[in-house]
Amino acid sequence: MALPVAILISGTGSNLRAILDAADAGACDVEVRAVISDRESAAGLELARSRDIPTRVIKLKEFADRAHWDAALAAAVAEHAPSLVVLAGFMRVLGTAMIARFPGRIINVHPALLPLFPGIDGPAQAVRAGVRVSGCTVHVVDSGVDTGPIIAQAVVPVLPADDADRLHRRIQQLEHRLLPAVIDGVARGRIELGDEVRIAERWFDPAAMLASPALALEEK
Ligand code: GRF
Repeated sequence: MALPVAILISGTGSNLRAILDAADAGACDVEVRAVISDRESAAGLELARSRDIPTRVIKLKEFADRAHWDAALAAAVAEHAPSLVVLAGFMRVLGTAMIARFPGRIINVHPALLPLFPGIDGPAQAVRAGVRVSGCTVHVVDSGVDTGPIIAQAVVPVLPADDADRLHRRIQQLEHRLLPAVIDGVARGRIELGDEVRIAERWFDPAAMLASPALALEEK
């Protein structure tokens, strides 16, 4: 049975698109039951609607405080009974209601090699620091900012002419492969989320890990 998921977004939804495309191609055994956003203007909502996926907007400013917003979000997500909650460009920190409702079952994609460069502007932080490689991380969400257990990472080079946007675009190409691959790994039992993250060796795709030189060449 396909893994039932709810996807939380705040923006463009290119990761959402990648998940849906991978599912269509049979590469991600997932059933996207709902797309929920904290922003009405999130372009990914339109994409979800065009695929007949139920959508919901839960705005922080409509609640007395973050705790009430977080509780409403948890209730809205729970209505769809997901086995996994995926933060795909969701730009808010979750509170205790969400974390307690889906313990160890929320994952996030972050545009840096955690634990380096958490929080906003991961690519800009990498450029400023002068690192020669960066990439993306899929991790379990806990109550901190990008601090939960790491599930998977993919690496890209930081090229001499990179600014934050150019590096971010290159990182996103890998996000679009890594995030669906992790979800598929969870769906097929090759990645176990719980008190501890367990990954079967056969989940690893060497092609994904070797993507960085190829991506550098494609840009030349
Ligand atoms: C991604 O780069 C992700 O790492 C970060 O937010 C961005 C979302 O992009 N958390 P999109 O909305 O999926 O296009």
